[in-house]
Amino acid sequence: MEIYLDPGAFAEQLATDVRAGLTATPKALPPKYFYDAHGSDLFDRITRLPEYYPTRTERSILELHAGEIAAVTGAETLVELGSGTSEKTRLLLRALRDAGTLERFVPFDVDPAVLKDASSAVSDEFPSLDVEPVVGDFEKHLGELPRHPRRVLAFLGSTIGNLDPVQRHGFLTAVRGPLTEGDCFLLGTDLVKSIDRLVAAYDDAQGVTAAFNKNVLTVVNRDLGGDFDPAAFEHVAMWDDANEWIEMRLRSLRDQPVRIESLDLDVHFARGEEMRTEISAKFRPERVVEELAAAGLRLTQWWTDADGDFALSLSVPV
Ligand SMILES: C[S@@+](CC[C@H](N)C(=O)[O-])C[C@H]1O[C@@H](n2cnc3c(N)ncnc32)[C@H](O)[C@@H]1O
Repeated sequence: MEIYLDPGAFAEQLATDVRAGLTATPKALPPKYFYDAHGSDLFDRITRLPEYYPTRTERSILELHAGEIAAVTGAETLVELGSGTSEKTRLLLRALRDAGTLERFVPFDVDPAVLKDASSAVSDEFPSLDVEPVVGDFEKHLGELPRHPRRVLAFLGSTIGNLDPVQRHGFLTAVRGPLTEGDCFLLGTDLVKSIDRLVAAYDDAQGVTAAFNKNVLTVVNRDLGGDFDPAAFEHVAMWDDANEWIEMRLRSLRDQPVRIESLDLDVHFARGEEMRTEISAKFRPERVVEELAAAGLRLTQWWTDADGDFALSLSVPV
């Protein structure tokens, strides 16, 4: 396994981000810290919840169009950013194998645990495939990825929605940078739809998303000696109409002090105070085209499901 983000660098980044987030007004924590081994398991459960339509919808698009994606791209290397379990990606890997072009799969994720399991599951199904997992941060390490010809960079699950517009521009520009002729970018984007369905997808009846949201407190407690009481916070998912994103927050149920020992940091949460833990932007087709173009990428294909809930797009460097 290639390590671009070693445990020391991860701990340093976590410390910097947590200090900045807990001393900001309003308080906020970045979503990448949900994903320790337990957080990745919880996310995997979320993908199977009845309310969480994005995963099964994106899978249905891949079921219909993976063959076409394989034919159009002729990819030899598939790099998957924020790969998680790479479960849906198998559809793409199968299509590329059947097309006879696939040589290499590079799953890239911040969580080494999910990466290890996903890589061995993929290797079991594709014994002759070269699987080269990378532990890294897709906001920092894209320039370090090996440059093989005919690469497809895939970013599925609408993980791009976790970045705000400025971060998205930085990310897309970093994706575009090393692409050359013959390479392309496959992007999954969740589309704007009814508020009820959107909110339900981030506030499921079984409380799995609530547990996932609170996992960031457990990560801070374990890795930075924090004393957050997860039971003293409640999960909030709300639609921000102006920004067209879902925002997940943790609301403090009481007035409470929190100490983060290894940062020597004491913070106070007022009763009812909310801390942002994730945004999940929803897209309109024009916005996807514009944001890709602003980063030097030209959209060539757009696939969606019959209800227009989710889209996959392919773009190439200009
Ligand atoms: C919303 S999940 C999507 C997982 C999978 N791609 C899917 O479509 O189901 C986001 C994934 O990105 C990873 N991730 C989050 N922030 C990251 C970052 N900054 N760098 C690398 N991976 C990140 C998480 O560990 C997680 O596996």
